[in-house]
Amino acid sequence: MANSPFDLACETDYRAWRDAKLAAYPRNVDELVVALANPRQLTPQEFSALESRCTRANMVIYSAPHLPAADKSLPHQLARQLGLSRLEGNYLADEDGLSSITPADDEGSVRGEFIPYTHKPINWHTDGYYNTPDRRILGMTLHCAQDAESGGENALLDHEIAYIQLRDTRPEYVAALMQPDAMTIPARMDDDNVARAEQSGPVFSVDAEQGFLYMRYTARTRSIVWKGDATTQAAVRTLADILAHPEYTLTARLRPGMGLICNNVLHTRSAFSDAPEHRRLLYRGRYYDRLAFPARTA
Ligand SMILES: [Fe+2]
Repeated sequence: MANSPFDLACETDYRAWRDAKLAAYPRNVDELVVALANPRQLTPQEFSALESRCTRANMVIYSAPHLPAADKSLPHQLARQLGLSRLEGNYLADEDGLSSITPADDEGSVRGEFIPYTHKPINWHTDGYYNTPDRRILGMTLHCAQDAESGGENALLDHEIAYIQLRDTRPEYVAALMQPDAMTIPARMDDDNVARAEQSGPVFSVDAEQGFLYMRYTARTRSIVWKGDATTQAAVRTLADILAHPEYTLTARLRPGMGLICNNVLHTRSAFSDAPEHRRLLYRGRYYDRLAFPARTA
C-alpha cells in the first residue's frame, strides 16, 4: 500500500501524519460530545459533527438526554446510519444483538462470573481481542440507559495515539507487537462465556485493503501469553506504561441518553456502586464494521 503512515520503513509519511494527528487530537472529553436532536434521523450537520470527532479521535460521544434512554432501538438505529450494521451476536446478548451490561444480582449466575456483569473495574482493552482474524470487532457502541450512583467512568484512548506513543519510544516495539504470534489467548471461555480455541495474533495490524490501523489488546495479565523474546516483553511493558500515564486519555461519564460510538478504541471502566432499584445499565454493540459517513457534496 502506497504512503501508509503505519509503514515502519517510511519515516516521512509517519511524521507528517503523526504531527497532524496529535495537533488535532481532543485534549478535553467535552470536545468529543455531539448533541443530537433525533438520533434516529441524523441531519447533515449532525453527520458532519460526528464525522469530525471520529476523524480526530476514532470516537464520538453523542448526547440525547431528552429522549427515553432505555429504548434500545435508539442506539441500534443510530449505529446503522453510521455504517455499523454487522452486529456480533453472542449467547449473552439480547435478541437484537446488543448486550445489556449491568451487574448480575443472582449469585452463581453465568453472567456474574464475567467481569462486565459485575461492579468491578475493567482494565485497558479493545473489544473482542480474543476473536479470530475474520471476526475482528471494528466498531463498538455503548449506550447509557442508566448510570451508576457513583463511579463507572470510561477512560478512552484512540489506539492510533497509543501507536504513536509506542513508535516514538522505539519503532522496534511496534514491530514486535505486529508479529502474528505476539499475543496468545489460551483456549478458554471469554468474558461473555463463549467457548473458544487458542487465539494468536498481533496487537497492531494494518488492514490490507483499506489501510486502517487495527488493535487488539488487553492489559489483563491472567489468561494471556505474550511472546517470550526480550523485545516483545519490553514492548508490552512500555505499552502498559503508556496506558498508565493519562497524557492523552479522555475520561467520560456517560449519563442516561449519552453514548460512545467508536472504531473500537482502547477503553477501561472504573469500579462503580449502585443499588438494586437504580442499576447501571449500558447497551453494548460490537460490529464487524468500521464507522462510515455519507459522502459530502462539495
Ligand atoms: Fe470493552
